[in-house]
Amino acid sequence: MTQNRAELPETDYGLLARQLEALLDTRDALTNTAQTCAFITQSVPGLNWAGFYLHRKPETLILGPFQGKPACNPIPFTKGVCGAAARSRVTQRVDDVHAVEDHIACDADSRSELVIPLSSGDQLWGLLDLDSPLPARFNDQDQAGIEALMKIFIERTDLATL
Ligand code: SME
Repeated sequence: MTQNRAELPETDYGLLARQLEALLDTRDALTNTAQTCAFITQSVPGLNWAGFYLHRKPETLILGPFQGKPACNPIPFTKGVCGAAARSRVTQRVDDVHAVEDHIACDADSRSELVIPLSSGDQLWGLLDLDSPLPARFNDQDQAGIEALMKIFIERTDLATL
């Protein structure tokens, strides 16, 4: 794999949005989380981990469907980049995970990270976590593109079954 973000091919997030809409043809949360993280892994270059953590216990993130190495579980809201996303309900984009004191290193290869909280109304359902072995893998376009994919995921999924 390339070591340089600039060498990655451009990702057409508009195309990915249309493909994901076609892929998510059931409202089942287990099916849709599994399909979505597999789809992102196949479609977005330069990732070593892509998956969901689910808010299934108070103030706690439980590991859900993912692609990559076995990962840390559970993650309390008080810890890590994922905990910060869950507490703030704001996307967390980290260019250098080594610079984040309480980053939780599940895979030692990870260098940058994008975490998108999944909420509707005042309910936090969980989050999508993407890791890359490349420093600063995620730019503004990636963040906006993946956030748009998560909007489709939320619209197309019966979140109460998560
Ligand atoms: N790095 C995350 C933990 C989850 S793994 O990357 C899959 C964090 O600091 O919250």
